[in-house]
Amino acid sequence: MKATDRASLDQWYPIDTETLIPFGRSTNRLLGYELTVVRAPDGKITVTAEGIDGPLPIRRRFGFLWTTVGQPAGEIFQLPEADETDRRHVNCGAVTVKASGLRIVENFLDMAHFPFVHTDILGAEPNTEVMHYNAEIRRDVDEVWATNCQFFQPQAALSAKDGIMTDYIYRVMTPFTTLLYKTCPNSANRWDVICLFVQPLDPDCCRAHPVMYLIDDESTTTELVHFQQLIFLQDRIILENQRPVLLPMEPRKEIPTRADASSIAYRRWLKEKGVTYGTSIMAA
Ligand SMILES: [Fe+2]
Repeated sequence: MKATDRASLDQWYPIDTETLIPFGRSTNRLLGYELTVVRAPDGKITVTAEGIDGPLPIRRRFGFLWTTVGQPAGEIFQLPEADETDRRHVNCGAVTVKASGLRIVENFLDMAHFPFVHTDILGAEPNTEVMHYNAEIRRDVDEVWATNCQFFQPQAALSAKDGIMTDYIYRVMTPFTTLLYKTCPNSANRWDVICLFVQPLDPDCCRAHPVMYLIDDESTTTELVHFQQLIFLQDRIILENQRPVLLPMEPRKEIPTRADASSIAYRRWLKEKGVTYGTSIMAA
């Protein structure tokens, strides 16, 4: 099913790791549109969509090829840490998830599941409490932020030697792109950055593109990718079993708790924007 809401259409989306796009013709998908990607012998990439005249605009950023089937008002969001030369840029590989992209973003914002889904890595009993944090829609940048987040983590990162109280800041830049800043075990005054860019193929099926910008001189890239994939595959099991599949937008459909402040802000923001792709409004 194709997207019809401007809020989903008028965004930039990653469709592949740029270096993985094969020469010649290949197919891809975005918001229900079949895409054709052509990489010419000189490396030039052209993307077209069924039913849309002419090539789509493309951008190269964070190692991905980005495109749109709408008219984005601006460029891809800013992330200065991505350009810091002493950081590791770790592309974790695309993962297909049979879930609404909005569910994937919402799960990314949720700390309450750490001890139960990522047991002994990102959380462990009895430290299950989500402490008070702040969630807000930042009007100046039109993003959702959650700050002052804290959680006790047995293995906060691959490089963590011991359990630590981990600080988090979450940021949702567009309805389908999000990232977090978290305590860096190797640097007291800088943050590791973990991004999750979602490419909605259909309302209930997506590709997730996790990418990290870390300060870690010790771990190998393979180890870092495996660590992140382990965590994301744990999430995928939960995501693919969530019901209803599409994100409920009716008030009080799911009972919120204090831990859900970021989810409440996110859903309010989606509603204000008129996002319907991947929500229950679409199915109604
Ligand atoms: Fe998770």
